[in-house]
Amino acid sequence: MYILGVETSCDETSCAILKNFNVLSSITISSLKEHKKYGGIVPEIASRYHIKNIDKVLDIAIKEARIRLCDIGLIAVTYTPGLIGALAVGVSFAKALAFSLNRPFIGVNHLYAHLFAPFLNLKSRIDFPFLGVVVSGGHTKIYYVKDFDCIETVGQTLDDACGEVFDKVAREFGIGYPGGPIIDRLFNKNYKSSFQFKCGKKNFNLSFSGLKTAVIYKKLELEKKHLLDKKTKIKLISSFQETVVCTLVNTIKEAASRYGVLKIVCGGGVFANSYLRKSLRIKNKMVLLSPIEYATDNAATVAGLGFYLYNNKGIRSYYNLEPKAE
Ligand code: KG4
Ligand code: ZN
Repeated sequence: MYILGVETSCDETSCAILKNFNVLSSITISSLKEHKKYGGIVPEIASRYHIKNIDKVLDIAIKEARIRLCDIGLIAVTYTPGLIGALAVGVSFAKALAFSLNRPFIGVNHLYAHLFAPFLNLKSRIDFPFLGVVVSGGHTKIYYVKDFDCIETVGQTLDDACGEVFDKVAREFGIGYPGGPIIDRLFNKNYKSSFQFKCGKKNFNLSFSGLKTAVIYKKLELEKKHLLDKKTKIKLISSFQETVVCTLVNTIKEAASRYGVLKIVCGGGVFANSYLRKSLRIKNKMVLLSPIEYATDNAATVAGLGFYLYNNKGIRSYYNLEPKAE
């Protein structure tokens, strides 16, 4: 079966075509550069660009997959969580297509879709249970996944999401947006212990906002004393990333051992981080990392999860499906 995936939860307008679990095309246009001067995503701008780009993205995805629109057998769309106006564009688009083509459609949870990335193209066997970890710009979640329709939250952030903190620290240092990939590039492991920071942690719940404040205060203090040269900036940034990565790795390790899982599945934008990817080697556990090209928001993971739920679980949505911000 050919599946169309639609993703519009934040700034990426994305459509993908899968043949069962194989990705034939995955096309994304991001409105990111329109948001850069504001230092964060502006919801109204994101929605407008989804409307502007979604037809174009679908067109390219269909052409690249070498199919016709009428070959699509199922439409999967992100309906939660995300920016409400942005989600509404994708959900309405998917409903209209499903109606005009007379095909079933299914609304999927964006965070669970991130966890589907390692299973695309049947790269790994889909078996349960596993520990699912989603770390992105909007969320930091640890799940116990019994199946994709039976997911229990084990831990989450108590304040800022992990990616959000990368973005805010980068903004304070004036090094650009989004901050994650920039900090990833600037990180120098020789300087990772130059400053001692820590994250808040309670059971499997994390707090990143204190870390953000500590890094920013340290930067301001050094600046005041005229001690903030380029090298010191890199030392601060590297120590920040080290703290985040160590906290994530240790928490994931503890949760995996507490829940007795053998497999850990990781997705979301922050898992594009090269140091985090290298650091996540856990003895006696199989760690499945989202392939880099499917770590950030994309419709291929949405289509893959939608197909799994429809095909294996008989789940579908109806026209009363509404987008939900949380
Ligand atoms: O999953 P995603 O594309 O969108 C959300 O659902 O939020 O994640 C975007 C987040 C941003 O905060 C970005 O800074 C972060 O992922 N990110 C990274 C890296 N690449 C993207 N964080 C750390 N290192 C990276 N290489
Ligand atoms: Zn995401």
